[in-house]
Amino acid sequence: RARVVVLLSGTGSLCAALLEAADEAGYPAAVVAVGSDRPAPGLEQARRRGIPTFTCTLRDHPDRAAWDRALAAEIAGHRPDLVVSAGFMRIVGPAVLDAFGGRLINTHPALLPAFPGAHAVRDALAAGVEVTGSTVHLIDAGVDTGPVLAQREVPVLPGDDETQLHERIKTVERTLLVETVARLATSEEDPR
Ligand code: GAR
Repeated sequence: RARVVVLLSGTGSLCAALLEAADEAGYPAAVVAVGSDRPAPGLEQARRRGIPTFTCTLRDHPDRAAWDRALAAEIAGHRPDLVVSAGFMRIVGPAVLDAFGGRLINTHPALLPAFPGAHAVRDALAAGVEVTGSTVHLIDAGVDTGPVLAQREVPVLPGDDETQLHERIKTVERTLLVETVARLATSEEDPR
């Protein structure tokens, strides 16, 4: 099975979906570690399963470059085939990109290239779009700019607030992420 390291910053419901999928014997990937950039509640579900966790906090390092190198080293220690940013709310730097570029993916709550950045759901509502969605993409040096691997639409409903719309998007994101990780885990081709 492909070895997956998941990175998160918060609740970790997307990570939970991957952990549940990976509990099934037929799923082609296993989550071998879950990391965060802060003491995130999402790490708990990995701990309960006995899966190693790590926290690499920016303020514990002299600067962003040192943090980026430490994060790359933590991830590398788990020898991943695939690294999944699932609600990881930081931009990874050159050390992580150099080590894992091409097998480093992110899930984003909008139809990229529309609404990149940290407030995608709010920005989609403010723009008044009728359809938004979820994107899984390869991470490159830009902010939410890497090649798209999978996308699925989600309608904006009348009266939606940010929380309601984000919850509906996350339901779709969970399935899309589980499917895309399985596809990459079984694919012979390098996603690059
Ligand atoms: C997800 O919607 C994910 O796409 C988003 O954070 C949420 C995490 O949910 N990520 C970003 O906005 C990254 N820019 P979770 O903590 O319940 O998995």
